[in-house]
Amino acid sequence: MKKTIVLTILLAVLASCSDSDTMQDIETPPTTPTNPTNPTNPTTAVTYSKDVKSIIDANCVSCHSSGRSASFRPLTTFAQVKAAVESAGLLGRIQLQSGQQGLMPQGGRMAQANIDLIVKWNTDGLKEN
Ligand code: HEC
Repeated sequence: MKKTIVLTILLAVLASCSDSDTMQDIETPPTTPTNPTNPTNPTTAVTYSKDVKSIIDANCVSCHSSGRSASFRPLTTFAQVKAAVESAGLLGRIQLQSGQQGLMPQGGRMAQANIDLIVKWNTDGLKEN
């Protein structure tokens, strides 16, 4: 009798675990990347004009442009963003974890799809078009 009760409770706990929405949310990767270009597609080169500019405009330019808090390092043109990758540690900054000092954007880590795209832009040779 005692064993049956214990078993029933155990099964109930197990069943509630596998039904949990929160567990599924953690395990299921997002199906739609925030950027329409597939960052994992090895055949299409990532370019500044096609992929990177819109991400930088949406996440960085509010500070990294003239008159703003990070105007010393503007990120409004291809040449400026390329230079920041090559000599100001841009790739390292965007890949820091949430809460780590120096993370960019300062307000919080970008979606992984955006980070992956910028990393692939570098791998693909920092092309403008
Ligand atoms: C809320 C304002 C803000 C946003 C948004 C922001 N930054 Fe910054 N960023 C700063 C400030 C302020 C500094 C200077 C302090 C420091 O180095 O952490 C900085 C520094 C940097 C540096 C180092 C520059 C150097 O010459 O040392 C890089 C690279 C950088 N940011 C990239 C980015 C990128 C890429 C984004 C968007 C994905 C971004 N930032 C978004 C405010 C911001």
